[in-house]
Amino acid sequence: MALMANVNRADRMPMSPTPQPAQSPRAELRDLRISFPLPDMSTLEVISGISMTVAEGEFVAVVGPSGSGKSTILRALCGLLEPSGGSVLVDGKPVSGPPPGVGFMFQKDALLPWRTVAGNIRIGAELGGVPGDRREERVASLIKLLRLDGFENAWPRQLSGGMRQRVSLGRLLAYQPSLMLMDEPFGALDYQTKIAMGKELLSVWEAERRAIIFVTHDIEEAVALADRVLVFSARPARIIADYKVMLPRPRHMRSMRGDPAFTRLTEAIWSDLALPE
Ligand SMILES: Nc1ncnc2c1ncn2[C@@H]1O[C@H](COP(=O)(O)OP(=O)(O)OP(=O)(O)O)[C@@H](O)[C@H]1O
Ligand SMILES: [Mg+2]
Repeated sequence: MALMANVNRADRMPMSPTPQPAQSPRAELRDLRISFPLPDMSTLEVISGISMTVAEGEFVAVVGPSGSGKSTILRALCGLLEPSGGSVLVDGKPVSGPPPGVGFMFQKDALLPWRTVAGNIRIGAELGGVPGDRREERVASLIKLLRLDGFENAWPRQLSGGMRQRVSLGRLLAYQPSLMLMDEPFGALDYQTKIAMGKELLSVWEAERRAIIFVTHDIEEAVALADRVLVFSARPARIIADYKVMLPRPRHMRSMRGDPAFTRLTEAIWSDLALPE
């Protein structure tokens, strides 16, 4: 806990559970515990009692060491694995299978190679129940928003990595999820494309305000994008810090990096994670 030292108190949220808002949080973990059985009959404790909430429209980033259980948490939230203890709620309801309205995006895109750019985005609209007569309009507006104009009929193999991730993001948004789970979605991209994608995601999020849990290894990316940054410990994971990001919105990727509040927060997280000087 010495890790929490050099940060302005205004940036830090209390570590006790967030007070209950009148409306159910979009997502909630209550004393979540997850263990996996190992071949030698022992168990691997991955999550040891995590409690957190994500409010409607809130952008929460999660950082933590590799193997700390970040992806495991996302899998529990979308009903892909059952907790060993505690509870997982989405929209106030216990999760017992993929909950409606929850969409994902992973580091590696999972585009259908036999569908065009527009076709891949359209799948999201189909699955999300966008009525037939409104689908094309939704697809067209996302293509414009994500600057994919002119590539509507291109095949995934004809796109760069950044474009493929923009199509994945388009498909996720077309689904109109109320909770977006994003697991290092820009982790495989080069620096410039990653910054551009972050900007893209923020402009969409500022327009539509969907709740997001965004896992990343990039501290600056977490602070630049999120309302809150949760720092996980090494396995078994606990939340060692919960920072409120006080930077104003809309965020400007470049000028923000010179803001002392940005530097203070990234440095605090750096030391929480005990990264070398
Ligand atoms: N199905 C499983 N069976 C056994 N162990 C598992 C299983 N799934 C995950 N684990 C273990 O749980 C731990 C946490 O894995 P997880 O993928 O959640 O980490 P992570 O924080 O996402 O790491 P990274 O940052 O490298 O993606 C790891 O030690 C992993 O080996
Ligand atoms: Mg992971």
